[in-house]
Amino acid sequence: MTDTNAHLGLGEKKVDLPVRKGTIGPDVIDIGALYKNTGAFTYDPGFTSTASCESKITFIDGDEGVLLHRGYPIEQLAEHGDFLETCYLLLYGELPTAAQKKDFDYRVTHHTMVHEQMSRFFTGFRRDAHPMAVMVGTVGALSAFYHDSTDITDPHQRMVASLRMIAKMPTIAAMAYKYHIGQPFVYPQNDLDYASNFLRMCFAVPCEEYKVNPVLARAMDRIFILHADHEQNASTSTVRLAGSSGANPFACIAAGIACLWGPAHGGANEAALNMLMEIGTPDRIPEFIARAKDKNDPFRLMGFGHRVYKNYDPRAKIMQKTTHEVLAELGHTDDPLLQVAMELEKIALTDPYFIEKKLYPNIDFYSGITLKAMGFPTTMFTVLFALARTVGWIAQWAEMIEDPQQRIGRPRQLYTGAPKRDYVPLSKR
Ligand code: CMC
Repeated sequence: MTDTNAHLGLGEKKVDLPVRKGTIGPDVIDIGALYKNTGAFTYDPGFTSTASCESKITFIDGDEGVLLHRGYPIEQLAEHGDFLETCYLLLYGELPTAAQKKDFDYRVTHHTMVHEQMSRFFTGFRRDAHPMAVMVGTVGALSAFYHDSTDITDPHQRMVASLRMIAKMPTIAAMAYKYHIGQPFVYPQNDLDYASNFLRMCFAVPCEEYKVNPVLARAMDRIFILHADHEQNASTSTVRLAGSSGANPFACIAAGIACLWGPAHGGANEAALNMLMEIGTPDRIPEFIARAKDKNDPFRLMGFGHRVYKNYDPRAKIMQKTTHEVLAELGHTDDPLLQVAMELEKIALTDPYFIEKKLYPNIDFYSGITLKAMGFPTTMFTVLFALARTVGWIAQWAEMIEDPQQRIGRPRQLYTGAPKRDYVPLSKR
């Protein structure tokens, strides 16, 4: 809905730009006609003032520390719901009825097995490959295994591809882990819930009975809910951009996984835990705080700061509670990493540098300690993030494909290279 206009003057040229209002959140200035009317582009590296799309899925108020999925606060979803319910909500826009939930859970559960040939595909990787490298390759390869769900113009195929990815991601992630540690793959077991099934595929071995710990399964499920979607972050924007060309959904999700891997994004949970281990004891915290504040030192406090949250990340609060629950269940309450984390958080939250720059703990600050206590190696942390974020990527991808206004994403640039010049033959250079 267009409510009012913004007015821009560029030399002699004047242009009226429509201002659009969202349900909540800042207005946006629609600059679509800017180039046509003025011959100028906008310039916003890092997209700090640019909305790249219209979306009805997730809303963040970074100043207030609010995260809503389809209007529902993350705290309520994490407290009362389960991950597959959140998946349904993200995909279809409403919480499911009991019958819809039963049907959705059944459909996801019965897509968890992967093509048997996939297990041979895994063996092409080195055992010491980073599991995220394996994820990028194997998820991309799904398009070679499931040809019957790559036609993006067919709504049924899109739906099947979405269910397949939500269902198979835990199986693939567990296979990446098992391959990494040299243990046999464990097949999914359909009478288990999503999180329990994943824990079993990761930690069961054929020679022993494996019983899922319900506290750990609930924590795993909650970690999945907390990571399910986060509007137009780098990996989601990557998925949308890849999908805008008409690429198949498996390839688009593989592109999202590649982007997520970086330490400024999903790789931060691994980096945060490595940092806590490097700090080791609370007495070394001041040294690391000083390094984080030193302009000449590239070191950053991993798990702190966020492009959008200029307040406590609401996911971090829930994550902190989950960390305590898991450590209590496992009898690790005196975990030295937790002591370092709690002390570091306390110091950073009272330090003028961090206060002034509004640097608060983000979700990655506590997730690493929890995952480590549950038995995951640091190399698996970002894999778990990718597993959970898959639903967000798919929901955002589907929203884009179903948008009748959708066009290929094609940013422009400010060119500062050499002007036109003539080729100089090699003998004259
Ligand atoms: N430690 C110390 N200083 C920091 C930190 C930090 N973690 N984060 C930002 N700053 C400083 C930065 O040096 C800059 O200072 P100045 O204005 O004096 O140059 C200022 O704060 C603004 O930083 P920025 O890099 O311009 O902010 P950004 O919005 O581009 O970056 C960020 C956001 C998340 C990449 C960054 O805060 C960071 O690198 N944090 C550590 C990595 C991390 O925890 N990432 C996980 C993000 S949450 C999960 C996810 O999205 O995947």
